[in-house]
Amino acid sequence: MGGEPAKWVSMVTARTPTNIAVIKYWGKRDETLILPINDSISVTLDPNHLCTTTTVSCSPSFDQDRMWLNGKEISLQGGRFQSCLREIRARAQDVEDEKKGIKIKKEDWQNLHLHIASYNNFPTAAGLASSAAGLACLVFSLAKLMNLKEDNSQLSAIARQGSGSACRSLYGGFVKWVMGKEDNGSDSLAVQLADEKHWDELVIIIAVVSARQKETSSTSGMRDTVETSALIQHRAKEVVPKRIIQMEDAIQKRDFPSFARLACTDSNQFHAVCLDTYPPIFYMNDTSHRIISCVEKWNRAEGTPQVAYTFDAGPNAVMIARNRKTAALLLQRLLYNFPPQSDTDLDSYIIGDKSILEDAGIKDMKDVEGLAPPPEIKDNIPTQKSKGDVSYFICTRPGGGPVVLADETQALLDPLTGLPK
Ligand code: DP6
Repeated sequence: MGGEPAKWVSMVTARTPTNIAVIKYWGKRDETLILPINDSISVTLDPNHLCTTTTVSCSPSFDQDRMWLNGKEISLQGGRFQSCLREIRARAQDVEDEKKGIKIKKEDWQNLHLHIASYNNFPTAAGLASSAAGLACLVFSLAKLMNLKEDNSQLSAIARQGSGSACRSLYGGFVKWVMGKEDNGSDSLAVQLADEKHWDELVIIIAVVSARQKETSSTSGMRDTVETSALIQHRAKEVVPKRIIQMEDAIQKRDFPSFARLACTDSNQFHAVCLDTYPPIFYMNDTSHRIISCVEKWNRAEGTPQVAYTFDAGPNAVMIARNRKTAALLLQRLLYNFPPQSDTDLDSYIIGDKSILEDAGIKDMKDVEGLAPPPEIKDNIPTQKSKGDVSYFICTRPGGGPVVLADETQALLDPLTGLPK
């Protein structure tokens, strides 16, 4: 009686974007610290269409660290989660909230347990870099909860230890992950090259391609590549360093033809080193290849690139169009070649920024069926049209970095119990 400490719950909610690499990270020089063998560059995707929201909380009433992903409890025992938690706790500061009667001393953080709830606004199984957004969001929100003094670049070096590509999700716009030289990884972190407003004409269309089998994970795939591929050494030492300089320059100057050529050739080379791995790894499938040839034919016919494509460790295509007008023309071509199945409605086939669909003059399925073949394929053998090879398309654009959501109604945990809502 009287001496009983108040059972407060302290809580922070944040939202973090996904990113797509245009110069790929593939291969580690240190597996535990997650240190890469080359620099990489990515574009952050608009969190309105693809993001992770995470609520982190602590309370003297919690008796263990717990985490829920998309409503389901998952284990926090994995080495990568543990590395992130350890690194953040080591940098935690005093926290005081008089209104709530919260007073946490730096050293208390070692004994206070955490509840974490995370939610992706896109299907986790679609293979859209959910781990990148997820780990970045975990690190960012915990850093706010524990009042860390580190900036986003220093936080990126912690997120990196959760998943390499996660470090690039600490910033919006165009981001470079500098591989660093130090053995302890202190200089292997993300820096922002330009924010999302720098090149705001770009439009991104993602084709979520139906995959038949479970793919090799990036982690084990890149390990096999480093162990068995002779090409990966040439890529990391000779090719990527030059491309990084050229890509930074293309982004700075908003030089779309150079940007597109570098992004496409780098994606193709990443898949070439996968093929050079023994046993070989295939991430792209027939649909992926057909998307490449559709874009290549059009780019060639125009005489200058209209669209860039890039593929990660799966069959999904990420296409970057130079502006809204080309994005509308691209969408017409994609819908012509990859129409939805008869039982799918257009509204669930094209998601995200649907205004691109209006620009393309497509209101309903009748308009899709009425699409004329694009001029660049006119003289060729008619392309095979197969329904259902693409599950759906997401229209989006480059977007901003992590933000704290101050509005408590957006929290995923109950502010009184600290349990999922
Ligand atoms: C093909 O970051 O998923 O998407 O560091 O082992 O967690 P780990 O791998 P991960 O690898 C991403 C590889 C890629 C290219 C990229 O994002 O740069």
